[in-house]
Amino acid sequence: MDQKIFIKTFGCQMNEYDSNRIYDTVKKIGYIKTNKYEEANCYLLNTCHIRDKAKEKVYHEIGRVKKIFRSKKKPLVIITGCVAQAEHQEMLKREPYIDLVIGPQAYHKINDSILNYTEKKKIDETDFDAVSKFEYLSRIKNRSGKTSSFLTIQEGCDKFCHFCVVPYTRGPEYSRPFNQIVDEAKNLADQGAKEIILLGQNVNAYNDDGLRLSNLILEIEKINKIARIRYTTSHPRDMTDDLIEVYKNSKKIMPLIHLPIQSGSDKILNLMNRKHTIKDYLKIYDKIKMINPSIEFSSDFIVGYPGEEEKDFEKTLELINKIEFINSYSFIFSPRPGTVAEKLKQIDKSILLKRLKKIQKQLFDNQIKKNKFLENKIIEVLVENQTDDKLRLFGRSEYMNSVIFDGNKELIGKILKIRIEKTNQHTLFGHIHQITGKKVA
Ligand code: SAM
Ligand code: SF4
Ligand code: F3S
Repeated sequence: MDQKIFIKTFGCQMNEYDSNRIYDTVKKIGYIKTNKYEEANCYLLNTCHIRDKAKEKVYHEIGRVKKIFRSKKKPLVIITGCVAQAEHQEMLKREPYIDLVIGPQAYHKINDSILNYTEKKKIDETDFDAVSKFEYLSRIKNRSGKTSSFLTIQEGCDKFCHFCVVPYTRGPEYSRPFNQIVDEAKNLADQGAKEIILLGQNVNAYNDDGLRLSNLILEIEKINKIARIRYTTSHPRDMTDDLIEVYKNSKKIMPLIHLPIQSGSDKILNLMNRKHTIKDYLKIYDKIKMINPSIEFSSDFIVGYPGEEEKDFEKTLELINKIEFINSYSFIFSPRPGTVAEKLKQIDKSILLKRLKKIQKQLFDNQIKKNKFLENKIIEVLVENQTDDKLRLFGRSEYMNSVIFDGNKELIGKILKIRIEKTNQHTLFGHIHQITGKKVA
């Protein structure tokens, strides 16, 4: 009889990709997915460690599972992801309800770990072994089958920004072999993907023996059924000219670049160990805009990094005004265990909250303004799904805006022209203007 697995995912898109791949893997040993906790024989929590409370969130979630199974047979409890990597032995000691802890570079061992598990011996698999992981996973078909599919091409980070845990939880930078990625993209296209989102903690640092992200985009572009290509998250230092040139040469790369800057002050960038300046960033921006002025930028910001004075914060606001980022993320600095910034003197909480409110107002105002500008315009939308209530369709514009409109589910996977009627900060609402749109095989 099939075993049932409940998978819950916190964190970034790479975790989402990993959760899908874990599911492709455990299916081989007879597990099928359930959306109901109480049905599960196996409960898997894929965790994120990027900001505080991550660890507590995990124990809180385990508490919930314990409650649900109080009067039932306990499921096999597996913790994967970045908290698993950072806290492995400590987790097993603190919460005996956890059975297996498996780090992000050890997912190729998950089936053996499950099959070999006995109650007397908890399992801790947290070696960094990205090569074996991807070699193993490339032999198992990616069954994502989604119109917009994630594809991890690069893992880990060697940059060691002083605030960030990723180099510790995901290990050193590793780029998957070029052909392995192209094969996976073809396979995703055969299963219905129309958009590929290439992923990496430092996606534009991708380098397989001299083959860079630019080469990969231009190769994936040759797959007929793929209509759109995106990549995330990139680092300004790796925004090399060959990648910038892609915006001249590619017909399928989308006109939105997510390029985190974190702060508008060179002093803070230096304290953060970002290894780039505001001038470097603006140079990239200018080069891109010279190629195509309609390309937009989005970014990540950290508010209240230790040492941030009012004048540094003002510089961030000035930069936001200048670039008019869309869809940006802003976070209060959160000290992370083991990082250089962990022990630095923190800024007063009331100042942090004030600054967050201010930056978010400015970012959100930009977003609202840009969305409003689209009212009564016709834009191209890739239809991804039905809305949760199944009454309408959901898709994304070239700039990743969520777009909602009436239509039947046969249109999923098509690119339509949608006339936008109403907008708010997060969503555009409209109706179908034309079904043909761009030709998608
Ligand atoms: N590699 C990307 C880059 O270089 O910008 C960032 C990847 S990180 C997973 C995503 C975002 O989380 C970062 O851009 C940063 O804004 C935020 N972040 C990371 N560590 C943080 C911390 N300690 N406190 C607050 N935000 C943090
Ligand atoms: Fe973290 Fe990105 Fe810096 Fe790497 S480059 S340490 S992932 S913020
Ligand atoms: Fe979180 Fe790890 Fe991604 S810390 S943001 S799940 S790389």
